[in-house]
Amino acid sequence: MPLLSLRIAPDPCLSTPSRPVDEVDQDIRKLLDDMLETMYENNGCGLAANQVGILKRLVVIDISDNPASPKPIKLVNPEILWVSEEETSISEGCLSVPDQYAEVSRPAEAHIRYLDENGCSQEIKGDGLLAACIQHEIDHLNGTLFIDHLSALKRSLILRKMQKQLKYRAL
Ligand code: NI
Repeated sequence: MPLLSLRIAPDPCLSTPSRPVDEVDQDIRKLLDDMLETMYENNGCGLAANQVGILKRLVVIDISDNPASPKPIKLVNPEILWVSEEETSISEGCLSVPDQYAEVSRPAEAHIRYLDENGCSQEIKGDGLLAACIQHEIDHLNGTLFIDHLSALKRSLILRKMQKQLKYRAL
């Protein structure tokens, strides 16, 4: 399976809302598998299709911390059905914002509906890291990055650090 190339902020794909998938066919299943492999290769716990330049509502997640027993979740057209009023703050990072981490406050629990890789409707209710990860990935599908939840000052500091890193890498 080929690895897909990651888009890094401020790539325009990351700020563009993605379109729903009409049919979960063989091409979509292949793309989900390639996305999972790309996520594992880069040590991520979630990846949305627009992070590899594909504007479709597809997400892969694996929050298990034991690489020997992966627990991949593949989400097609995920929608949030309910979030808790209670919020919690978790330190988040993103494969499209490399090496930058910040505390993001989000609803502590989330309940979502999605299609699985066979096109069957499923629901997940999650809290903790899973709830944060699901909301972070659905944000991607809507063209939002975790740094968009931060104050303008914190966000611009992170973007400036990233620009410096990019320059450094180009040398
Ligand atoms: Ni991300």
